[in-house]
Amino acid sequence: MNLAILGPPGSGKGTQAVHLAKQLQIAHISTGEILREAVRKKTPLGCEAKKFLEAGQLVPDAVVLEIVKAKMHEPTSAGGYILDGFPRTIPQAQMLDRIDNHPQNPHPPLEKAIYLEVSDEECVARLSERRTCPECGLTYNPVTHPPKKAETCDACKAQLILREDDRPETVRNRLQVYHAQTAPLIQYYEGSGRLVKINGNSSPQEIYKNIINLL
Ligand code: AP5
Ligand code: MG
Repeated sequence: MNLAILGPPGSGKGTQAVHLAKQLQIAHISTGEILREAVRKKTPLGCEAKKFLEAGQLVPDAVVLEIVKAKMHEPTSAGGYILDGFPRTIPQAQMLDRIDNHPQNPHPPLEKAIYLEVSDEECVARLSERRTCPECGLTYNPVTHPPKKAETCDACKAQLILREDDRPETVRNRLQVYHAQTAPLIQYYEGSGRLVKINGNSSPQEIYKNIINLL
């Protein structure tokens, strides 16, 4: 099964995608995570992407598309995948459909796009609380997923930080970019009968149950 999960920054895409990937035994492909790892490792991709991430702007479509294509063709994706944070613009969705519908594409096409509906205010509140490990990228939340020791990563013991783009002023930028460039995807997938709309305001467990029921 090939899925995509979309919604505003902080709507819970990553939280749900991790559980769905585990339960359905499919690969979790997060473009944001791949880009942040490239920035941490200072690869050429990371150096190109850094300024976009820090400003809360989108990385150019062509760059992101290459990342996703490579991941989709890895052996770990052979049993299916969930795309987290991709597509994020109408051209990205059209490019994905072109790849999916290519006669030589060995993979089944995207089946469903799960849309998590959450208000802007709730997103800003959630992201200002989220803490991230600067070494390994694991994320924590004081209420839904606290670290064992305050402000310390469970895995690598580094001091947790507020992600550069989780500062309220940058989150506002990300939300503007979301409404202008990503929200039109809701209609795009509704029009092709692939949208699964979920109220993203309840607990992560409740949301997960609703997604599984609707799939
Ligand atoms: P990306 O990493 O995709 O960030 P995002 O979409 O802005 O959203 P987040 O990952 O911050 O939030 P999320 O929805 O995953 O929520 P989470 O589960 O963490 O992208 C980052 C950047 O990379 C972009 O700005 C862009 O520059 C670039 N990029 C990435 N993909 C791109 C693309 N395709 N094209 C171009 N550029 C691209 O949850 C958030 C917090 O809320 C956590 O603390 C969590 O514990 C908590 N939480 C989760 N669910 C709940 C709940 N139900 N109730 C209460 N709290 C909850
Ligand atoms: Mg995420």
